[in-house]
Amino acid sequence: MKNVVLLGSTGSIGTSAIKVAEDLPDRIRLLALAAGNNAELLLEQTRRHRPAAISIFSPRKARELQNALGPVPPVFSGEEGLIKLATLPEADIVLIAIVGTAGLQPALAAIRAGKDIAVASKEILVMAGEIVMHEARKHGVRVLAVDSEHSAIFQCLEGKPSSSVRKLWLTASGGPFRDKTRWPEEKFSEITMADALKHPSWVMGRKITIDSATLFNKGLEMIEARWLFDIEMARVAVIVHPQSVVHSMVEFVDGSIVAQLSTPDMCLPIQYALTYPERAPSNRVRTDFARLGQLTFEEPDATRFPALELARRAGEIGGTLPAVLNAANEIAVEAFVNGQIPFPQIAETVRRVMDRHRVVPHPSLEQILQADAWAREEALNR
Ligand SMILES: NC(=O)c1ccc[n+]([C@@H]2O[C@H](COP(=O)([O-])OP(=O)(O)OC[C@H]3O[C@@H](n4cnc5c(N)ncnc54)[C@H](OP(=O)(O)O)[C@@H]3O)[C@@H](O)[C@H]2O)c1
Repeated sequence: MKNVVLLGSTGSIGTSAIKVAEDLPDRIRLLALAAGNNAELLLEQTRRHRPAAISIFSPRKARELQNALGPVPPVFSGEEGLIKLATLPEADIVLIAIVGTAGLQPALAAIRAGKDIAVASKEILVMAGEIVMHEARKHGVRVLAVDSEHSAIFQCLEGKPSSSVRKLWLTASGGPFRDKTRWPEEKFSEITMADALKHPSWVMGRKITIDSATLFNKGLEMIEARWLFDIEMARVAVIVHPQSVVHSMVEFVDGSIVAQLSTPDMCLPIQYALTYPERAPSNRVRTDFARLGQLTFEEPDATRFPALELARRAGEIGGTLPAVLNAANEIAVEAFVNGQIPFPQIAETVRRVMDRHRVVPHPSLEQILQADAWAREEALNR
């Protein structure tokens, strides 16, 4: 039985993780749950799963929840609340499924308390991958990937070192604007939020869906892979695979390629991370090759989707630049969602902020947080 702390229980990954826990009551106990704003859903989840502690961002909502629930479980709030849950003595693993960078400090606290972490929040590895992986090695804990691509690579690698790898191949669906004939570059300025939210293969939270439309999601994943698998950016490649069945591949030095396949369902990589190193039976995912018919691959379009090149540059230069790319992207996505900037200006904003940044190599956490705050300000100066 694993005691799981779930940070971001009310989101897309969080609710899938709850389904996985419900599928495997003999293996997974939801020890603690944390949400951002959605008090109603957190209340419902708490009544159903009886965690030992919960947390919600606002202290006022925490008090309201405590009143509704009575004395147990204790309800915490803010970043301290997340850290409290992430370091509970009984916790075995902390699943970080909070959108953005709010999961960084709780992730570091969990590692320092000797807990394994399962990371859905790729932003924290993009921002501070060097520090997170260094701390994990120092404290002898695992950093398990929840992103389907990185889970796939992890499964293909089977613990082999990066010296046995020629290339990691991250697959990308290509997002809703992949088709050049329907979405030529000149039409990109007309893209609405509704267009960008129509993801062809996955149902996900809003930020990651927009990131999938710009391909910044894949860019962030390239940097995430660089840290998770201790490999330089030059050996991380992206290939567009619209069916999203091959979740990613490892090309070994002898030319052999190992891939992990299934019909897309986030419950699978979540379950793998939570039950690792075991595989638990599940009937959720069945892949019918005859029905799929064909699996296709194509080169990503670097002109219409500059995110990939920007992310490669940030990953290669390193230091504070990936944190700057991530922060500028978060602000630009928010501005697009609020109708303040057109779609192409998301990548333009990120490029502008990156160009102006003076990179600090091998930064401390404080320097990363400073760069993050600077980039957010800078991205707002339109
Ligand atoms: N969705 C996917 O299929 C998928 C796949 C791979 C990786 N990821 C990554 O997983 C992460 C979560 O994505 P998602 O799609 O699940 O996002 P989402 O549906 O928007 O959910 C975000 C979650 O974070 C919570 N949250 C936000 N700010 C918080 C704070 N300060 N304290 C505590 N909780 C907070 C939200 O709570 P409220 O809803 O209560 O406000 C919600 O539970 C992202 O980093 C994303 O890139 C997602």
